[in-house]
Amino acid sequence: MKTIVVSLGGSILVPSLDSHHIREYATILRELASRYRVFVVVGGGGEARRYITAARDLGMDEATADDIGILVTRLNAALLAGALGESAYPRVAETYVEARENAESGKIVVLGGVIPGQTTDAVAAVLSEYTHAIALFNVTSVEGIYSADPRKEPRAVRHAHLTPGQLLEIIRKNQLAAGSNTVFDIVAVKVVERSRIPLFVLDGRDPHAFRAAVLEGAFTGTVVCEGPPMALPL
Ligand code: UTP
Repeated sequence: MKTIVVSLGGSILVPSLDSHHIREYATILRELASRYRVFVVVGGGGEARRYITAARDLGMDEATADDIGILVTRLNAALLAGALGESAYPRVAETYVEARENAESGKIVVLGGVIPGQTTDAVAAVLSEYTHAIALFNVTSVEGIYSADPRKEPRAVRHAHLTPGQLLEIIRKNQLAAGSNTVFDIVAVKVVERSRIPLFVLDGRDPHAFRAAVLEGAFTGTVVCEGPPMALPL
């Protein structure tokens, strides 16, 4: 079975604990798991940002604030693993080795952050290397990668296809700080570039649109790969 890695933004899965999309995503991930070996890396979202802000206000250094962010990603991951029930390995993996060991169960493997200084996008990219994934999906709260931040720059245009080098140029302008909100982590792009893993950046605010994109080819985000753009479904 071919492997895919899904980087599921915390702001998508758990915008807040009162209104989350965990059930919908659990259903879709189960369907994906009937076709692919699936690893899901869950982000921290708004809750992680709030904890990181509190940590900074209390005088903690950036790496310690990152550690706190990682704990929140793992909490979100634990909620997803629980909702997946029998379909997922019950424990959230904390390392890449654990993730690969957990995959031997044949079940969906869920994890959050791994080490300070990056985001869960980087975890997902490195995991894609370790697992020889055929694709990495970055499920985020924008419709793809734009020439500038579309929330700040109304004339920003969405790219349907980029090479990893072009994406690096776009992202280099952004800063890597605990809780920073760039569309895709620079560490992750460098990994995608060196391993030539096709990266699909897509809007996951509507879980059904995510399903249609991955399984039915109704993809309208940005594909990042060398050569001609790859098409979905894989
Ligand atoms: P996220 O991956 O959620 O970052 O990790 P994000 O940019 O806020 O992404 P969205 O909004 O969920 O899509 C939350 C924070 O946890 C720490 C970082 O501080 C990050 O900003 N983190 C996460 C790490 O330090 N290392 C990791 O491996 C993962």
